[in-house]
Amino acid sequence: MVSSPSQPPSLVVLVTGASSGIGAALARQLAPRARALVLVARREDRLQELAGALRGQHPGLEVDVRPCDLADPQATAALARALVEAHGGVDLLVNNAGLGDIGLFEVADLDKLVGMIQVNVVAPTVLTRLLLPGMIARGRGQVLNISSGFGLVWMPGAAAYEGTKHHITAWSEALRSELVGTGVQVCQVCPGPVRTEFEEVAGNPTGQAVPPFVELSAEDCARAAVAALDRGQALAVPGFWAWLGISAGRISPRWVLRPVFGLLGRLARARLPTAPRATG
Ligand SMILES: NC(=O)c1ccc[n+]([C@@H]2O[C@H](COP(=O)([O-])OP(=O)(O)OC[C@H]3O[C@@H](n4cnc5c(N)ncnc54)[C@H](OP(=O)(O)O)[C@@H]3O)[C@@H](O)[C@H]2O)c1
Repeated sequence: MVSSPSQPPSLVVLVTGASSGIGAALARQLAPRARALVLVARREDRLQELAGALRGQHPGLEVDVRPCDLADPQATAALARALVEAHGGVDLLVNNAGLGDIGLFEVADLDKLVGMIQVNVVAPTVLTRLLLPGMIARGRGQVLNISSGFGLVWMPGAAAYEGTKHHITAWSEALRSELVGTGVQVCQVCPGPVRTEFEEVAGNPTGQAVPPFVELSAEDCARAAVAALDRGQALAVPGFWAWLGISAGRISPRWVLRPVFGLLGRLARARLPTAPRATG
């Protein structure tokens, strides 16, 4: 283990997507263990506001606000190199930034799809590839990947998003295995629905709401993620109802799931817009 809440704050912690939702909650909850906390997202005003609050609550904490468009691999790589220069590396890398896209794949906005893959898949790849060697050299480090329940199961209506999260899930598991014995741990969290700005960005063409009892708050989701990290868990699914639904999907054979999802796919096609969503 690299850290625990009882240790003096000594870590350099990087949280991507800290301007909102789960990332902002993770930044708040990880701040007590950080010597330096790096906040990354595009909306600098939000990051500065959070940084101000955290500096007030944790005197001595260095909060480093780094606005960056993670859809740009060059900018992402430059960010990682700048952090090595500024802080000597990162001890806890939280790959949280991400977005979804809901609707039929063939009419998706192509620019949005490509940007989503850059943020959800390419940015964690670039950051981890550039920051991991330092962790291995120091013999300690943690990578916390926020995947999704859709990294473990799938449904019709968000195919490309689910593909990005399946990438994160398989990559996290394989990387964790590769790193055994190095002192570096990889933990992934696969949440079900969480109340954040996610749906606003992903779109909700049917207008169908998630039952409130299924939805977690961002703080509860972050709490479960930090607990999983501290326990050295490989994978956590926060929330009972999400765990139940996702577990049912995981243990069901594909020959059972395919006809069920085929039926859901027909329903989705009947309900979801079939006009192109934007340019492409
Ligand atoms: N909410 C859910 O139901 C749910 C469920 C499962 C998994 N997740 C995962 O949880 C993670 C966090 O999402 P959330 O629910 O907290 O959603 P959110 O409130 O929309 O937050 C998304 C964060 O990602 C950042 N981001 C998006 N595009 C970016 C870009 N191009 N460059 C830099 N940062 C970017 C956003 O910052 P800026 O817009 O300021 O750049 C924001 O801070 C995502 O990976 C998501 O897939 C969410």
